[in-house]
Amino acid sequence: PHYWAIVPAAGQGSRMGHTRPKQYLPLHGKPILQHTLERLNLPRIKGIVVCIAANDSDWQTLTLPRTVMSVVGGVERCHSVLNGLQALQPQAQPNDWVLVHDAARPCVRPADIDKLMTQLADHPVGGLLAVPVRDTMKRVSALPPQPLPHPFWGERGVEVIETVNRENLWHALTPQMFRLEALTLALQHVLNQQETVTDEAQAMERQGYRPVLIEGHADNIKVTLPQDLNLAELYLQQQDF
Ligand code: CTP
Ligand code: MG
Repeated sequence: PHYWAIVPAAGQGSRMGHTRPKQYLPLHGKPILQHTLERLNLPRIKGIVVCIAANDSDWQTLTLPRTVMSVVGGVERCHSVLNGLQALQPQAQPNDWVLVHDAARPCVRPADIDKLMTQLADHPVGGLLAVPVRDTMKRVSALPPQPLPHPFWGERGVEVIETVNRENLWHALTPQMFRLEALTLALQHVLNQQETVTDEAQAMERQGYRPVLIEGHADNIKVTLPQDLNLAELYLQQQDF
């Protein structure tokens, strides 16, 4: 089977609070999305599809490491990924691997992407990069329904119900790597049920699959809040990629 990559980059980056979507903000000398695409530019990856917003005005300004196909994204991340999968359909085989990687994760290490591909090459389902949780984790009482001032818990605190055993908890990162056909069916099923998922693995889990976690690095952060820009800059400097 061949390997393909889909990069969802159609979000607005509302939590970043910039007018320009966060994937186009400059970081360590170039736009975030450009870093991300350079890291996915591995010999084993046969093609890359980037999902961009319909009103995107920055995509044309990137200097791409290789020819990359762009498709229009959707309302939610899972719609964007599904559009990417449909764009791959004509050239790819049902059993091919698809690596979905957030545009907003520019610090992913190419060695970790390689590790994911190598370790799961013969696996029937696939999996994702992840890192074990380091802090002690607390489950709290159910959040009241939205809308509430965000973050409302900053005002009055929130009660602990129990401590969750952190030995069984991992942070899900990307890339997430699954077979083209199985992932397409899993995402279509979620959307047909009018549900949403926050990652591909969750869609696969709903189908009864058991994705495998491959240990990555905690510096593979999703740039989400303004303070993440400084952190990502530091990580990129240190990695010397
Ligand atoms: N994404 C996408 N299509 C959407 C929403 C998100 O392709 N409809 C992409 C984003 O561009 C990002 C990745 O999915 O690369 C992860 O999403 P997130 O970090 O939530 O980015 P945004 O949705 O842009 O940010 P926010 O939630 O703060 O608005
Ligand atoms: Mg979002």
